[in-house]
Amino acid sequence: MYRSHTCGELRIADTKKEITLSGWVQTIRKFGSISFVDLRDRYGITQLLFSENLNAQLDANPLGREFVLQVKGIVNERSNKNANIETGDIEIAVAEFTILNRSAVPPFSIQDDTDGGDELRMRYRFLDLRRSIVKKNLELRYAVSRSTRNYLHENNFMDIETPFLIKSTPEGARDFVVPSRMNPGQFYALPQSPQTFKQLLMVSGYDRYYQIVKCFRDEDLRADRQPEFTQIDCEMSFVEQEDILNMFEGLVKRIFKDVKNIDYTDVVERMTWEDAMWQYGNDKPDIRFEIKIANLKFPQHTFPAKAPQSALIAGAGFGVFDDAETVLAIAIPGCSEYTRKQTDELTEWVKRPQIGMKGLVFIKCNTDGTYKSSVDKFYDAEKLKAIAAAANAKAGDLILILAGAEERTRKAASDLRMYLADKSGMRKTDEFKLLWVLDFPLFEYAEDDNRWVARHHPFTSPKPDHIDIMINNNPVIENAADYLAHPYAGIKANAYDMVLNGNEIGGGSIRIFQRGLQEKMFAALGMDAEEQQHKFGFLLGAFEYGAPPHGGLAFGFDRLCAILGGSESIRDFIAFPKNNSGRDVMLDAPSTIDAKQFNELQIKLDIK
Ligand code: AMO
Repeated sequence: MYRSHTCGELRIADTKKEITLSGWVQTIRKFGSISFVDLRDRYGITQLLFSENLNAQLDANPLGREFVLQVKGIVNERSNKNANIETGDIEIAVAEFTILNRSAVPPFSIQDDTDGGDELRMRYRFLDLRRSIVKKNLELRYAVSRSTRNYLHENNFMDIETPFLIKSTPEGARDFVVPSRMNPGQFYALPQSPQTFKQLLMVSGYDRYYQIVKCFRDEDLRADRQPEFTQIDCEMSFVEQEDILNMFEGLVKRIFKDVKNIDYTDVVERMTWEDAMWQYGNDKPDIRFEIKIANLKFPQHTFPAKAPQSALIAGAGFGVFDDAETVLAIAIPGCSEYTRKQTDELTEWVKRPQIGMKGLVFIKCNTDGTYKSSVDKFYDAEKLKAIAAAANAKAGDLILILAGAEERTRKAASDLRMYLADKSGMRKTDEFKLLWVLDFPLFEYAEDDNRWVARHHPFTSPKPDHIDIMINNNPVIENAADYLAHPYAGIKANAYDMVLNGNEIGGGSIRIFQRGLQEKMFAALGMDAEEQQHKFGFLLGAFEYGAPPHGGLAFGFDRLCAILGGSESIRDFIAFPKNNSGRDVMLDAPSTIDAKQFNELQIKLDIK
């Protein structure tokens, strides 16, 4: 028997028991003729006491960090208790020990505040996973998975696996492809999601499906993106948008309860995509703090901004505002006393290439009701007061104004809003706020190809009262510069995203389920009948055999775990993640393959 207990198990009530423990040597401390060893396993750490009588044996078999050690001994009460660990009241008086395996000196210290850099820890990920901080993340991940499975099972969902070697499923990224040896010159695509399979399962009558499943997307990586990641993928039949929103609010609330012991009793807010873009400058706003973006040039609530222009800032002779496509303001509460150094720092921040603005205009709303601004020359007190009112600023606030091209300025205002919130501690990792963003545009315009692309994916249905706009209008864009005037630009999708603390944690839609409308959709995206048949003949065919109305969504499982764990980096919540270049530095993958494999695949490399 290797062990009678784990290293996290023994308590004061176990005093005098004879036990056997096995684990890894975390630290060795020598005090005169005795030695203390901290023995670690997945469950915790237990202190071992090696007294003088074992010294000869220790000298012959010296211990080292990360050695795998088995000890037999007696549980004793500790004289010097450690309240920070659960086994801190006891220690083991070691009677005998066996080194089960030795370890090379680890390349970094296996502790929470390790001395190992990112790259090194990724190369030795199997050692990094021994650290309790990483282990806690994986435990949280497992708890989210358990909670999800329980909730979905209780609600009649069935877990059904779908294949990985498939044909392309368009989710907006590039496919990873796999050559087929048995079909030379032909390739499988790895699924960007199981989208079409879950829809086929609805046609088959499995009216509530789910899967915690790997998805593969060849796209640029960021902290919240991995080339292979996991979704909680779900689909339901005979449902409308409201049914889906309710079911999956329920899932996230259940996860909050099971994993974080949080009773999320707030009503989950809902916001249209237009409102999100207008008030927050992006489609996944963090609504834990109230700061909103005000449009000083086009005060009317329309998105994108259209005439008529407001007289608020026009005609004062200030070219920066007059010439800009858009002028956006945010009011930062209680910051009117920012020093020159602080405002300069903000100006530098917006001028960085990632943000790309030319500068920043300030208006300080002093607590005595006066205003001080960097544009006093152009705007008198009355005008500044009117601008402050438009920006919803109060006495004591600092107004920041950005001017420039529509898209860039909106993004800059959104980024600045988040930057300031981060800086002033308004984004707390233990506060959670959910939001549904609804009514996305069905189409986006791809300038390069002068054609429409699906904003979500091509299986998403238009809002019921927008179906006619799609059917009755030709998708061809006559005047590329004025694509916004095309009827397709106004078609809204029956789609929804779930946002948690400014992160898109899930998205889905009510699907098209009639062959005719699906064909119309493919045609709108520029696919002729032949291409439709080649790429999606299986789905179009299935829709002829009694496809029920259906819809669903998928959560980004890694993202959800990361946010619940208080991080925006999903890598920390994946056992074996890839780095930002898509490499597994531990395996050294991707890598070349043998000439023999190329021959079998009948593939010849010709790298440019
Ligand atoms: P979507 O493409 O919006 O929808 O993906 C669903 C969720 O998956 C997460 N996600 C990612 N997480 C980590 N790394 C990535 N590269 C990555 N890409 C996406 C996001 C996102 O909200 N088939 C549809 C769902 C549906 O319509 O039912 C789909 O895949 O959190």
